[in-house]
Amino acid sequence: MKTIIEPFKIKSVEPIRFTTRNERIEILKEAYFNPFLIKADDVLIDLLTDSGTSAMSAKQWAGMMEGDESYAGARSFFRFEKAVREITDMKYIIPTHQGRAAEKILFTIIGGKGKFIPNNTHFDTTRANVEFSGAVAVDFQTEEGKQPNVIAPFKGNMNIPELEKFILKTGAENIPVCFITVTNNSGGGQPVSMENIRGTKSILKRYGIPLFIDACRFAENAFFIKKREPGYEDKTPKEIVQEMFSYADGVTMSAKKDAIVNMGGFLALNDENLAMQARNLLIVTEGFPTYGGLAGRDLEAIAQGLEEVLDEHYLTYRLRSVEYLGNKLTEIGIPILQPPGGHAIYIDAKGFVPQIPSNQYPGQAVVCELYKIGGIRSVEIGSVMFGKYDNEGKLITPAMELVRLAIPRRVYTQSHIDYVIECCEELFSNKNLLKGFSIVYEAPQLRHFTAHFKPL
Ligand code: F0G
Repeated sequence: MKTIIEPFKIKSVEPIRFTTRNERIEILKEAYFNPFLIKADDVLIDLLTDSGTSAMSAKQWAGMMEGDESYAGARSFFRFEKAVREITDMKYIIPTHQGRAAEKILFTIIGGKGKFIPNNTHFDTTRANVEFSGAVAVDFQTEEGKQPNVIAPFKGNMNIPELEKFILKTGAENIPVCFITVTNNSGGGQPVSMENIRGTKSILKRYGIPLFIDACRFAENAFFIKKREPGYEDKTPKEIVQEMFSYADGVTMSAKKDAIVNMGGFLALNDENLAMQARNLLIVTEGFPTYGGLAGRDLEAIAQGLEEVLDEHYLTYRLRSVEYLGNKLTEIGIPILQPPGGHAIYIDAKGFVPQIPSNQYPGQAVVCELYKIGGIRSVEIGSVMFGKYDNEGKLITPAMELVRLAIPRRVYTQSHIDYVIECCEELFSNKNLLKGFSIVYEAPQLRHFTAHFKPL
């Protein structure tokens, strides 16, 4: 088979600023060893997130000029609405400035004390918005989804038997909605099968609970279904996406991922009463229902991006380039969450640097070393991000200590990724020398964004 190439030519470029190793050591110190506090200009390859970091196409940029900035009833809104309806077939489509704004509006209406929201795995902002409303967020990962080394096609799946037990115990009247997140970001960017979506829907239907899809990476999920699920090999990504959404009663979306734009999101609903309440809240918090926190030009770019993301050449390249990085790290001997996900590779830091205990933040040690070696910015997803303290002030650590290398869409070429791989080879040869960190400052909530560290 021939090399799968980037399915685009590059028309506009942004220079990368090079730094020396000694400069990076100083930069790290000044940033208190926290990659969120490093200036982006001091980063060579930025793998912090795939959210809002994509490169737009010429057609998307052209759409920016076409944007209709009318306050109400803008032409761009109708183009956006048509594009979202084309894939989701939802009746009511409400633009928001990003994914969490859609979550905030939804859970303000249907959440609240005494309510429970199941999900295959909540992303942090979804969990935060559920909890902020007073409701309880509950995850239902499958057993194989929790094992980093197990190779299985759909490790993002909902644990349907456990979900049903939970519904019976909790009472359907206390569960206003159940979510499925595609792909399962907190579970390693792993896909959810069509069979699992269908199965979840049929259980929920029995108890009268609506199904919502957190659709950030819907196209990547659809392409995994095409590649891995029997019966879907001859379907187009769009047909698969349409079937996925046909089981849903509502959708929340961060357009910063699979709509390939830098800002935007939406809430899509079938229930008229819910849509009316959502629009009323939208007017208070985001803006008029035909722009909802976005400019007309943003709506144009989203409409165009939603079309482009379903191109098979794009999706082949997208999944292959992430898999390429994952396979090379595995060859080097770096343990990763298997198999490679759709938007990121997650290094298993606990397995990689076992000399560093969880309370000395092994993931943070890997993140800092990668920056030092090659100016690569990644993010710890482990005890720094999720660690909590018990009553005696002892750190309670999560099950996994991961480092996420998220790949922005259409931004880096294979030689950028080869450079990352070479830096990872150096990381592998240094691994026994790595030491942990202690935290010297932390905020009471979401501490990973602003914490200060000290090397041990
Ligand atoms: N849901 C999922 C599954 C996400 O991954 C994100 C964002 C959101 C909701 C919230 O969307 O950022 O537009 O408000 N994930 C980013 C990440 C931040 O880095 O994984 P948002």
